[in-house]
Amino acid sequence: MNELDFSTTIGNAWFPSPIFTASGCASSGRELAQFFPLHDIGGVVTKSIMSKARTGRPTPRMAETPSGMLNSIGLQGPGIDVFIANDIPYLIEQKARIIVSIAGETVEEYATLARKLRSVAGISALEVNISCPNVDNRGLVFACDPDASRRVIDGVRRAIGGEIPIIAKLSPDVTDIVAIAQGVVDAGADALALINTVLGMVINLDTMRPHLGGKTGGLSGPAIRPIAVRAVYQVHAALPKTPILGMGGISTGRDALEMIAAGASAVSIGTASFTNPTALVSIQSELRELLRLKGFESLQGAIGCAHRPVGDQQ
Ligand code: SIN
Repeated sequence: MNELDFSTTIGNAWFPSPIFTASGCASSGRELAQFFPLHDIGGVVTKSIMSKARTGRPTPRMAETPSGMLNSIGLQGPGIDVFIANDIPYLIEQKARIIVSIAGETVEEYATLARKLRSVAGISALEVNISCPNVDNRGLVFACDPDASRRVIDGVRRAIGGEIPIIAKLSPDVTDIVAIAQGVVDAGADALALINTVLGMVINLDTMRPHLGGKTGGLSGPAIRPIAVRAVYQVHAALPKTPILGMGGISTGRDALEMIAAGASAVSIGTASFTNPTALVSIQSELRELLRLKGFESLQGAIGCAHRPVGDQQ
């Protein structure tokens, strides 16, 4: 039997596996590295980093919900200079493939971050998080505004140059995600990350007030998987040549395959790692086995297969 080709590409970046961490759920991989070597998975997508150190939103910052989790972290982080000094060398030492996620409050902040990262060696791709739901001003969720999201990606493209692929991370909290996707691709994004969390809220019935310190939070976990699959399917149908990093509630190899069939070239695992820190490696081996069982010779053959006529699997 031929060896399954499990590799994938995002822009000009090649990865031996389509299984990645989800930004924010593994920081820069230090905790997960206690459980498996970081180079065993496709890549590590780091927590979105901003220019300056941030303490994030007030506590409580997490709430468990049916089949999901609400977070209101608020982009806590050490700032780009400390990140470049400490986290990138750590990930390089681990031989991890690195996707750096950036977030900004202004178009210029995104461009500044990209400029700083341009000369840093060892970065496979840049995730531009324009969809964090946990910002004080909802008007700053760039991905909810077609013009603002285009301007961010255009600024980052100019700042980073042509070498490093840009992955624009979009929000599901929009009426027409295809229009936003088309806009950022036209502005220079090589790929898309779909989806960020869905804006939600939990009321604490003891206090009769919102549970989270930041009141609203981002919903993740299996509860949002059908929303993510729908978004990936719609965007792949409109932009079949644009690679998609699919995410939202993947916790088994079957979930990963569903996202790939919808059109994802790779998948990110986030919330599942909180209950099972080895989830990435088990999902990776389950997916490999499922592809083999279904008769695929390569991962590429399965990408977007849900769009093909019945009977035309590969
Ligand atoms: C956060 O730090 O608040 C989460 C980031 C995100 O969902 O983009």
